[in-house]
Amino acid sequence: MTPLIRLAGVTKTLKGQEQPRTILAGVDLTVHSGDSVAILGRSGSGKSTLLSVIGLFDRPDEGQYLLGEQDITRIPERKAAALRSAEFGFVFQRFFLLKHLTAAQNVAMALVNGQGWLSRRKRKAKVLAALDRVGIAHLAKHKPPRLSGGEQQRVAIARALVREPRILLADEPTGALDTETGNLVVEALRATTDHGCGLVLVTHDRDHAAKMGRVLRLSDGLLNPAAERVVV
Ligand SMILES: Nc1ncnc2c1ncn2[C@@H]1O[C@H](COP(=O)(O)OP(=O)(O)OP(=O)(O)O)[C@@H](O)[C@H]1O
Ligand SMILES: [Mg+2]
Repeated sequence: MTPLIRLAGVTKTLKGQEQPRTILAGVDLTVHSGDSVAILGRSGSGKSTLLSVIGLFDRPDEGQYLLGEQDITRIPERKAAALRSAEFGFVFQRFFLLKHLTAAQNVAMALVNGQGWLSRRKRKAKVLAALDRVGIAHLAKHKPPRLSGGEQQRVAIARALVREPRILLADEPTGALDTETGNLVVEALRATTDHGCGLVLVTHDRDHAAKMGRVLRLSDGLLNPAAERVVV
């Protein structure tokens, strides 16, 4: 089966400071439909840099990046922006919800930006389905100030899911949550892979990482299987 994405020998060097710093030194990563991949690594090891290359916010210096069978290594920004919204969903440590809108309206915002025209009924059905996938359909009418941190993050995940991305990229999505709430969020993320989504989760939490199908560690610019893999 063709992988969703394949990075081979990807490098990224940051220039502009006193001397260039190599952040990614030849990263290989293949993600298939239904895969869940955790990325561990110490602060500053380049995890967010790698996610921004995968999510097409940045391009590799060298190496190759395939999306399905399409070579997108050197794709121009205009096309990258279109692929970003069609193929990728993003979840960050901060939820970035709009306070004065309900959970459903926050999720619907993702449809307004870029899905073409949808009837009101179809839009509502998609929004409720996305909220339901993360277990919070009953909170559709609540505004963020009335939601817990974990609930807010699940609204953010629903917002990422509503466009039915092929790949979900999550950068420390539990960083602002307590352990128990974080567990719920990680389970909601993992469950997205049951529907064929590919998930790449950057985390500092080894227990959360262990819930993914594969655990990798970014170190010295390279991605390798994490030594501390716990079999669950
Ligand atoms: N825009 C930038 N300009 C200069 N240096 C940067 C920039 N973005 C990242 N860096 C540097 O690149 C390195 C990797 O950063 P990155 O944010 O990818 O690490 P990280 O593994 O995500 O860290 P953390 O766990 O703290 O989030 C760091 O040393 C950082 O200082
Ligand atoms: Mg980071």
